[in-house]
Amino acid sequence: MTISMRFKLFAATAFGGLVLGLAGLGNAVAAGPGADACVKCHEDEVASYTKSIHGQKGNIRGPAGAGECASCHGDATEHVAKRGKTPLLTPGKKTAPADQSNAACISCHKSDSKRAHWEGSTHQARDVACANCHNVHGAKDKALAKITQTDVCFACHKAQRAELNRPSRHPVQEGKVACSDCHNVHGSVGPKLVKKDSTVETCYQCHAEKRGPFVHNHEPVQEDCGNCHSPHGTVVDSLLKMRQPMLCHGCHTPHGGAVLQVAGQGNNLRTATSGGKDGVNITQGRGCLNCHTQVHGGNNPNATNPPAQFMLR
Ligand code: HEC
Ligand code: HEC
Ligand code: HEC
Ligand code: HEC
Ligand code: HEC
Ligand code: HEC
Ligand code: HEC
Ligand code: HEC
Ligand code: HEC
Ligand code: HEC
Repeated sequence: MTISMRFKLFAATAFGGLVLGLAGLGNAVAAGPGADACVKCHEDEVASYTKSIHGQKGNIRGPAGAGECASCHGDATEHVAKRGKTPLLTPGKKTAPADQSNAACISCHKSDSKRAHWEGSTHQARDVACANCHNVHGAKDKALAKITQTDVCFACHKAQRAELNRPSRHPVQEGKVACSDCHNVHGSVGPKLVKKDSTVETCYQCHAEKRGPFVHNHEPVQEDCGNCHSPHGTVVDSLLKMRQPMLCHGCHTPHGGAVLQVAGQGNNLRTATSGGKDGVNITQGRGCLNCHTQVHGGNNPNATNPPAQFMLR
């Protein structure tokens, strides 16, 4: 292409940009000079754009069909004319307001179900930009791969990084479970951006056996796994918030009360089945799970032996 041809082409696109540019950002069909007009000064960005999913020519819903660079950065006509001296919007940059940064992304991505609750979500309300998590020019978008996703989140969530390094934890750093298995960071109807409508539904995705149905339910289990577990990590085994018996004492009064036994004077050490609740020695009674083994819900079909509703088996 000769220089003059290049100029004509450029002038044509630039003119188109001026007219269509009025539609502005936030419209999927933004316009402005295409990638060809940028390459001599921004070789790297043009290359990464061309390689990325956004640069695929065949994708008519993508930037290729909507003004290329302009679909995210806005009309660069003046920027090109002034050889880069006019600033352009860089989505996600500290100086760019989040709403402005996100408008372009949302104009193309609002219609998919995963982002239906973005508006009003915690990240939106706290001015987090799509581009704070997504790297559209990079060779890889860290947010999308399970193994690298934590790098993105930990930049802002130090407390969760600490929790996920505790002795008992979900295998998140190993890439076996991702933050996004439990959270929809783009917004959700559940608490704390959990992926499903509630915490329990979120956990049932992988721990389906805890859903039951059980013959005898344990109320706090159906209510919120978080009554006993801390999902990221804990110092107690099995992701438990506290050790037994304190964990259970949070809601139940200790049982086993024979004072004589506590003092070591009793000789009537009865067992769960022979003495029922009152037969439980206080010291022995501290290991609640030794007897109440089915803490998530029991399926004992026998009404009497041992008393069925107590989740002893
Ligand atoms: C899908 C949206 C999108 C498209 C299309 C896009 N960019 Fe970007 N661009 C971004 C985002 C977001 C950033 C911020 C940094 C990042 O994510 O890599 C950025 C950063 C840049 C930067 C660096 C700014 C800085 O301060 O470091 C340049 C230069 C740039 N883009 C040029 C281009 C050019 C040229 C094109 C077209 C070939 C283009 N971009 C297409 C979204 C886009
Ligand atoms: C003649 C060279 C030149 C051309 C052509 C050019 N730019 Fe730039 N661009 C610059 C310079 C210089 C900067 C400032 C870089 C800096 O401050 O680090 C810049 C910065 C940017 C930035 C960062 C935002 C900012 O204001 O700091 C974006 C985004 C960008 N250009 C996009 C484009 C796009 C899209 C095109 C093509 C339509 C383009 N540029 C064409 C020279 C150019
Ligand atoms: C002009 C429309 C358009 C704009 C603007 C746009 N996207 Fe996209 N984006 C697409 C299309 C089309 C795809 C391909 C996937 C598809 O077909 O749904 C895509 C894919 C993606 C993907 C998935 C990438 C992958 O490898 O699977 C991410 C993440 C993404 N976009 C983020 C963004 C962000 C962040 C912005 C704003 C900085 C943005 N997009 C702006 C149209 C757009
Ligand atoms: C807090 C970080 C974060 C923010 C902010 C964020 N994303 Fe994402 N995004 C992710 C993660 C993590 C994934 C991969 C897991 C998933 O799909 O939930 C993802 C996946 C995607 C995908 C990929 C395809 C898909 O459906 O799985 C698209 C498209 C996307 N995001 C667009 C956006 C847009 C548009 C915005 C802004 C409105 C945005 N994201 C804001 C972290 C973020
Ligand atoms: C740019 C910073 C930033 C990044 C990156 C980021 N977050 Fe956040 N996130 C926030 C802010 C700010 C809040 C508001 C609460 C707070 O201050 O901790 C928040 C809150 C949350 C909440 C709690 C929601 C609520 O309703 O209380 C969850 C869950 C969350 N983020 C998950 C993630 C995940 C998963 C990632 C990585 C994919 C991520 N975040 C990346 C800034 C970020
Ligand atoms: C196994 C599921 C699961 C995984 C994996 C997970 N979370 Fe969570 N996260 C939850 C649940 C459930 C809550 C809500 C706890 C509650 O009710 O207080 C939560 C709460 C949060 C909160 C809000 C904390 C608060 O006290 O307000 C943040 C921030 C958060 N998660 C970030 C992350 C990040 C970042 C990752 C990945 C590094 C991650 N989570 C991985 C299940 C998970
Ligand atoms: C994406 C799948 C997935 C989701 C969703 C999930 N988990 Fe897990 N969970 C796992 C995996 C994998 C392990 C590790 C199993 C192993 O190491 O054998 C695990 C282990 C556990 C453990 C046992 C830890 C130990 O040390 O033995 C508990 C307790 C647990 N999860 C609770 C929860 C809770 C509560 C939720 C919901 C907030 C949840 N999980 C959501 C996959 C998941
Ligand atoms: C009343 C407290 C409590 C609640 C609520 C609770 N758990 Fe547990 N969970 C425990 C205890 C105690 C253990 C340890 C059991 C053991 O060591 O035998 C445990 C262990 C686990 C384990 C690892 C061992 C196993 O049985 O597979 C998983 C997975 C688990 N819980 C998932 C869940 C899920 C999912 C929920 C919510 C649907 C939930 N828990 C609700 C107390 C609870
Ligand atoms: C968040 C509160 C909470 C925690 C923590 C909790 N429970 Fe419960 N538990 C309940 C509620 C509520 C019921 C049903 C109401 C009732 O009958 O007292 C119940 C019922 C029971 C029952 C059956 C009682 C009956 O009369 O049918 C047993 C046994 C039991 N829990 C044992 C435990 C053990 C063992 C732990 C510790 C691993 C524990 N619970 C932790 C709230 C809790
Ligand atoms: C040695 C076995 C054993 C141990 C250890 C034990 N229990 Fe029990 N528990 C029983 C038996 C048996 C019953 C049924 C008693 C009856 O028939 O009245 C029972 C009944 C209960 C009940 C229902 C009756 C009530 O008081 O509401 C609760 C709640 C309970 N246990 C909680 C606990 C907690 C919490 C711990 C740990 C601090 C614990 N148990 C330790 C055997 C045990």
